[in-house]
Amino acid sequence: MEVTVSNPARGTAIINLDIEGPVISRHLYGHFAEHLGHCVYGGFWVGEDSETPNEGGIRLDVVEALRALRIPNLRWPGGCFADEYHWRDGVGPRAERPRMVNTHWGNVEENNHFGTHEFMALCELLGAEPYISGNVGSGTVREMSEWVEYLTRDGDSPMVRLRKANGREEPWRVKYWGIGNETWGCGGNMRAEYSADLARQYATYCRDHGDNTLYRIASGASDDDYAWTETLMKQISCFGCEATPKNFFQGVSVHYYTLSGPWDAKGSATVFDTDDYYRTMASAARIDRVLAGHSRVMDVYDPNRTVGLVLDEWGTWWDVEPGTNPGFLFQQNTLRDALVAGLHFDIFHKHAERLHMANIAQTVNVLQAMLLTDGDTLVRTPTYHVFEMNKDHQDASSRAVHLTGDHLHRTVGDTELRTLSVSASVKDGQLLVSLTNLDADRPAEVAIDLRGGSIGTPTARVLTADRIQDHNTAEAPDTIAPRPFDGVTATDRGIALTVPPHAFLTVRAPIA
Ligand code: AHR
Repeated sequence: MEVTVSNPARGTAIINLDIEGPVISRHLYGHFAEHLGHCVYGGFWVGEDSETPNEGGIRLDVVEALRALRIPNLRWPGGCFADEYHWRDGVGPRAERPRMVNTHWGNVEENNHFGTHEFMALCELLGAEPYISGNVGSGTVREMSEWVEYLTRDGDSPMVRLRKANGREEPWRVKYWGIGNETWGCGGNMRAEYSADLARQYATYCRDHGDNTLYRIASGASDDDYAWTETLMKQISCFGCEATPKNFFQGVSVHYYTLSGPWDAKGSATVFDTDDYYRTMASAARIDRVLAGHSRVMDVYDPNRTVGLVLDEWGTWWDVEPGTNPGFLFQQNTLRDALVAGLHFDIFHKHAERLHMANIAQTVNVLQAMLLTDGDTLVRTPTYHVFEMNKDHQDASSRAVHLTGDHLHRTVGDTELRTLSVSASVKDGQLLVSLTNLDADRPAEVAIDLRGGSIGTPTARVLTADRIQDHNTAEAPDTIAPRPFDGVTATDRGIALTVPPHAFLTVRAPIA
């Protein structure tokens, strides 16, 4: 696109400091680790005998990098893998654990060395809450029920005795519990009605043991399949099964991936042109409509908004890197991926009331990863830095942003893509504003018009690069990393800055 000084992109973002919006749950910054490629094996887990520094087999460099993001939760063991995973194969002495074939992901042998105890140890090291995805597709109600008992029950019972025999005396606390995954597809190819009935049945036997209270998440829709959500929501209430009516599940999931084209022509993670880039951004922006659509359906059946929408898989999906196993979903991660993440977070913040959780797919070495490992090396991706720069939105009070301006749109196919995205929150007396300029060529002059309060001196950081295709490698790990941004000024109305093209930027300021 031709850029001239006669058509500068200009925006005014009005933020009312004194009007509190919904709290942005920290769980919107959640993560996902599947037994897929090198996410678990090689990514999180190297085994106790590895030369790579580890604690009980868990890679310490990965833990250290993720702790800096304050990751709130980790979903495991799948994805599609969850519906062929049998938890009993993953407890007890490692050498004696049965093996299986991971039929979804590369047809490789799974040795079950990373199981329940290893996952819970990982969560403890990360300071993250576990989110366990139970097997509906090829499991049984009894198997899932016993897994909950094994993890969370205190006192004495068959599963408690088994846990203790395996070395863990105290029960763990587990809140987030997934009932199946993509039951419309890899999780059993079910119809919505059948899946909803199974969700009720499985949820019934996933008990709250002692004071451990589960948040049960029913396997939900893909993309804009609002009919699936409606079928689930119709089945959510358990009237008459208790003195007080309650819901069978506390959350329903949805999955949405960002692509630049059809599934059979996803394209390269690093070799793409500006048209591919804008198509990607239009696809990413569609998550707003998708979340709004599911929320509207949920409002009909749950007007008090007690049930959570859980976007437990999101992110970009490209062709695998040349020469890698097609079943391992290993992809590079460029500035384009980072801007997709920035845009998603602004949209998540807007939906903070209904959206209880979101989990990027996936944390290490798979799809839109935070970290890429190769042997002992570890690379932080551009997406990692967006999570880090945005981490203070976690548990903050959102502020609505009213954005107006000129030349802030671009036509992409049948979509009008807004090229500037902004969100804001307040926590501990600090204002945090995130801005993503999606325009590949043009800077955006932005006036942040603050009403109902005032601020002290603002500071800012920016994440950008010369090219939208730029990325980090072991040889050049900091090509894309946040840098201080000194082009931010306090004005009598608030803050003024010019966001560079293809950039993600955060501004923070103390509330005066
Ligand atoms: O994240 C990769 C896969 O994508 C998951 O296993 C599945 O749930 C989804 O289709």
